[in-house]
Amino acid sequence: MEKETLQAQLSFLFFSFAVLFSLLACLLALIHMSKWWRWQWCCSCSICEAYVTASWVSEHRNLSDWYTHLLRSSPTGTIHIHVLRNTITANPANVEYMLKTNFNNYPKGKPFSAILGDFLGQGIFNVDGDQWMFQRKLAAAEMASPVFRAFAMKIVSSEVIQRLLPLLHSAAAEKQQLDLQDVFRRFAFDCICKISFGMDPGCLELSMPMSEFATAFDRASMLSARRAAAPAPVVWRLKRLFNVGEEKELRDAIRMIDLLAEAVIRQRRKLGVSSSNDLLSRFMASIDNDRYLRDIIVSFMLAGRDTISSALTGFFLLLLHNPHVKSSIRHEIDAAFASAKNGNASLDRIREMHYVHAALYESMRLFPPVQFDSKFCIGDDTLPDGANVTKGTRVTYHAYAMGRMEDVWGPDCNEFRPERWLNNGRFVPVSPFKYPVFQGGIRVCVGKEMALMEMKTVIVTILRSFDFGAVRETSGSPKFAPGLTATFAGGLPVLVHKRDHVK
Ligand code: HEM
Repeated sequence: MEKETLQAQLSFLFFSFAVLFSLLACLLALIHMSKWWRWQWCCSCSICEAYVTASWVSEHRNLSDWYTHLLRSSPTGTIHIHVLRNTITANPANVEYMLKTNFNNYPKGKPFSAILGDFLGQGIFNVDGDQWMFQRKLAAAEMASPVFRAFAMKIVSSEVIQRLLPLLHSAAAEKQQLDLQDVFRRFAFDCICKISFGMDPGCLELSMPMSEFATAFDRASMLSARRAAAPAPVVWRLKRLFNVGEEKELRDAIRMIDLLAEAVIRQRRKLGVSSSNDLLSRFMASIDNDRYLRDIIVSFMLAGRDTISSALTGFFLLLLHNPHVKSSIRHEIDAAFASAKNGNASLDRIREMHYVHAALYESMRLFPPVQFDSKFCIGDDTLPDGANVTKGTRVTYHAYAMGRMEDVWGPDCNEFRPERWLNNGRFVPVSPFKYPVFQGGIRVCVGKEMALMEMKTVIVTILRSFDFGAVRETSGSPKFAPGLTATFAGGLPVLVHKRDHVK
């Protein structure tokens, strides 16, 4: 009897402790949250108020347009969104400082890795320090090699000639409407899959549904971007913990990507890697951890697909509104083809097309595929324009706003004018910190040359043979859909016409 009483007393004591402990934990969490809440939501400056109440939507189509407006009005080209603990800059001196001069103080940081960690794992986009350096060195060496460049060029040319041109011919013949953004996404996905894994998803066959891989990829990219827009990380973390809502969808999409990536890696290993030039095979020669290989490849796919399709869509949208630029491009293309042997323009010829190059740079100035990019400050610092940033602050350079700053580009900054890049007919680059479309400094885009080759090949071959007409009124200031890369809401629907005088 005494034993039972003792047991009951002990159970009661244990239970009381558990309840007390839980109450204490809740109380501490509440105190912490209330501090966070006050700090996050109680800034009453006009910018934070407009952000929290979303009142900016009454005057601006996109968040990026509102930020551009604010950055243009700021005397230093820098603003602070206190409720987000985010310092946003369009000042080239600050950009150079964070991307080069004091690079070590501005890593991607833990908050960014947490947001994209499930999707990108330890891939190059999502890591800092030694892991980043290792992948960077490997990727930069591979992508700079003449063998890889020739391999990538061959894939792009064959995708253009065997799939893209026939598709446009048949759309023109059948007077069928095409969404150019969708076509470019399919095109870029085929190219990057072949270049990254030596695998052909065949997405550019429009009769085929988008591959499961592409669809899962889109969902994972969009849902990961939504995490970044959540009012507080605790919201998506709780949903992930209970596997509900968008977090469940994200988990499902990532599971699909993992399964397909595993299958691709297995197949590559079976086929042997020594004789293949695709990136996966090159990485497999130095890495034998399949999870790590998956992460590396997923980062490359993200890098190489949506950026290209976004840039090409922006370019063709601008051409619809600027027929005189299209005429100048045609003039250069026709002259190059007329003087080429057999009427075929080689890569060298395409490289020599300075006006095409300038028009592409100019279109990405106005519509950069990566509109902004954030780093996390690891030690208190002062930016060159005098802005103080404390440890843990998110510091963002805003490429979209920078392309529209009068101080940087002059009073005609909103005009699409490729001539601004030319001196005596030759393309003249500007500082990457004034034009950080491919980022700049130590983590400058490793695929820049490949991307330019791919996009110019598409532009030159398409514009030589086809014309496009908008099927609905398009706006020079489009609306963007949420995502990691700029996507044009509603796509770019066009009617395709074959140019008469081209055989
Ligand atoms: C128009 C096309 C492209 C644009 C505008 C672009 C832009 C960028 C930007 C802004 C970054 C910095 C991102 C960040 O650190 O958060 C970046 C990084 C990178 N890009 Fe590109 N990119 C393009 C195409 C490509 C292609 C085709 C590839 C290769 C398949 C590629 C591979 C990479 C890689 C691997 C990095 C990470 C570099 C590092 O962290 O060291 N990009 N790119």
